[in-house]
Amino acid sequence: MNYRDLFEGIETPVKLQNGSYIVPINFDNGATTPPFKSVINTILEDIKYYGPISRGLGQKGDICTQKFEDAREEVLKFFNLKESNTHTVVFTKSDTESLNILSDILIKGKDIKVMTTRMEHHANDLPWRYSSSVVYIDVDEFGRVNIDDIEKKLIENKGRIKYVSITAASNVTGYVNPINHIAKICHKYDAKIIIDAAQLVAHQEINMKGETDDEQIDFLTFSAHKAYAPFGSGALVGLVEDLSNVDPFLKGGGCVKGVFDDNVLWGLPPQLHEAGTQNFLGVMGMVQALKDLKEIGFDNISKHESDIKDHLIKEMNKINNLIVYGDSVNTQDRLGVISFNVKNMNYEKVAQKMAKDMAIALRCGKFCAHPYVYRLLNISDMNAYIDVSSGLENIGMIRASLGLYNTIEEANIFLNALEYIAKNN
Ligand code: ALA
Repeated sequence: MNYRDLFEGIETPVKLQNGSYIVPINFDNGATTPPFKSVINTILEDIKYYGPISRGLGQKGDICTQKFEDAREEVLKFFNLKESNTHTVVFTKSDTESLNILSDILIKGKDIKVMTTRMEHHANDLPWRYSSSVVYIDVDEFGRVNIDDIEKKLIENKGRIKYVSITAASNVTGYVNPINHIAKICHKYDAKIIIDAAQLVAHQEINMKGETDDEQIDFLTFSAHKAYAPFGSGALVGLVEDLSNVDPFLKGGGCVKGVFDDNVLWGLPPQLHEAGTQNFLGVMGMVQALKDLKEIGFDNISKHESDIKDHLIKEMNKINNLIVYGDSVNTQDRLGVISFNVKNMNYEKVAQKMAKDMAIALRCGKFCAHPYVYRLLNISDMNAYIDVSSGLENIGMIRASLGLYNTIEEANIFLNALEYIAKNN
């Protein structure tokens, strides 16, 4: 299958600095992804029936309400939770919003401890800092999470850690964490597990049910825009029990049973957490993308992306003056996410050159995962950079992150460009 045929917009040329036009190479899929053509088609079809969800009595509203409710079933099916009566799906605007909702509704005071890691992007770190007492698991010298420390700290904290929130895959190094194994450890100590799946959802199969009951994932969050449906939707899949009988994070129409002068009677999940008018088309796009990913098959997706990743890492290791972060020898637990620097060259300059001269789109900086990037850069005293005049802007990396439509040919163009820049620095 030619995966490129499945995507909209990826062949549209862009203007280079010299005025010529060229089809760009997008190696910035960790940030956001282009849509599947099927997603666009779904949206164009469903817009004909666009109407209010769970409000009003028109035919179009009824159709949209039904489709919106069916979408929850599709999401559950995608995560191997078909016909689950333990979990439900709350539609949100993003992974970040989903994690903020969880942090707000699950934690009631700083006496509750939440465990997370130093690998996280900010969305799975900052909300916990403000709602709970956070226990961090550090990373090893390659940047992998110290999995053994999870159990150690759960024991040390004697049942006070109620939730463990961890990324399924890093947005900086692409390491994939063994989430069902970690779930097992958490459940042994009565902690619930929250998986930030933003970076993994489009790349590998996720089995929330697990092989055994104790491997089950309790909560999972993601954004559709990193999975080929960039129309402002995200989701939170979680335990009905824990999402019930709480005050919602977002308050407004649609989440109540009754409102009185001095009292509110909250509704039930999932609607309890979806105040306001729902993003019907965004959710239709999301569900279409999830169906497509399943149909293409995660074995095929993994193989395709892994082949390009392995080729890239192998060839990047050979380029003089290049630093590749993370383990670049044993790469089987990594997605196609590769962060690097050219020695003695500002990271932003490299990325700018790649973009302006060669239309290769990369991300650079600290990738909204500052503590992790400091660790990978071996900066032991990150506090030295708290003062903005301290050279903070010089700290960073460049990142290439792959999507299903990327090719070996694109990888070779990228490698040549990188070698040229590293040589002529
Ligand atoms: N977390 C997103 C990224 O890595 C924004 O680019």
